[in-house]
Parts: sequence; structure tokens; C-alpha cells
Amino acid sequence: MAKNAERTYIMVKPDGVQRGLVGNIISRFEKRGYQLCGLKMRTASKELLEEHYGELKTKAFFPGLINFMTSGPVVSMCWQGKDVVKQGRAMLGETDPLKSKPGSIRGDYCIDMGKNVCHGSDSVETAQDEIKMWFKPDEVVDYSLTAYKDIYE
Ligand code: RTP
Ligand code: MG
Repeated sequence: MAKNAERTYIMVKPDGVQRGLVGNIISRFEKRGYQLCGLKMRTASKELLEEHYGELKTKAFFPGLINFMTSGPVVSMCWQGKDVVKQGRAMLGETDPLKSKPGSIRGDYCIDMGKNVCHGSDSVETAQDEIKMWFKPDEVVDYSLTAYKDIYE
């Protein structure tokens, strides 16, 4: 992989879209220095969400989760940069917003676990799978960031 080219999949969930948090979430990643390499909005199908959350299919909350996630549009984003998968999860906060620190997205904007505003890939491998799941190859853009030299030493 090229230098600092790690990528993650971040998604604003239907509650985050409805509550007008898309710009804020994009802005946090931009200001941190991460590079946006994919962005789109759609109401996802049940099939796509069942694949995305496949590891959770035996959980009691799974049907409710899928129902919620297909209830309205989501905003899919691909972000690139050093350690972006782990840092992205830290920027989101804990799964349970009540356990999330102020300053994190979930710690600042939400209360209940089933309305926790955003998703972030949990490993580099999962991120690669999720980016393939949510974006066509030509929707993930390779370009050089002119600010790169001001972000990295
Ligand atoms: P996400 O995948 O959405 O980024 O969330 P996460 O990694 O922090 O948590 P995960 O275990 O992957 O769960 C996915 C989403 O399912 C809902 N959930 N509900 N009621 C429950 O015990 C429970 N556990 C998880 C949350 O909305 C969580 O974000
Ligand atoms: Mg997860």
C-alpha cells in the first residue's frame, strides 16, 4: 500500500442524515487531515445492509437494526490517511453513546445505541470489504492532496 493510503468506510446513518449531522461529520474528518476519496447518498437495500452487518445476524437486535438502517437515506464515505481505521473509530466514540466521551461524534450528538448516528469500519480488512460493498470501483477516487505536505512530516 502507498504511504498513508489506509482507507476506511464511514457512514452517516438515517438518524444522522435526518438530524443534519452530515456536514459536521464530514468536517471533522476533513479538519483532522484525512482525505475524502468517496462520497454518496442512497437508501440502501435490505440485502446490502444484511451483508454489511452479516456478523450480527444472530443477534436479537439484528432485525430492528436492518429495519432502521433501511428506513431512510444514508451517506457513504471513504476516507484515507495514516491509521484512519482506528482513528475513525475513536472519532466516532463507543457503540453505546452513553459510554462515549464528549468530543467524539456519538458522545456529542446522541444518546441511545440504536440511534448512534454513524458507522465506522472496525479493522483494515473489514474496511476493504465494506468499501467494495458500498462503492463501485470508479466511485473511489485516487488523487493527491496538495495539503499532504502540511499534514504529514
Ligand atoms: P457500527 O458497526 O454501526 O459502526 O457500530 P459498532 O461497530 O460500534 O457496533 P456493532 O457491534 O457493529 O453493532 C452495529 C450496530 O448495532 C446496534 N447495536 N445494538 N442493542 C444492542 O445490544 C446493540 N448492539 C449493537 C448499534 O446501533 C450498533 O452501532
Ligand atoms: Mg460495527
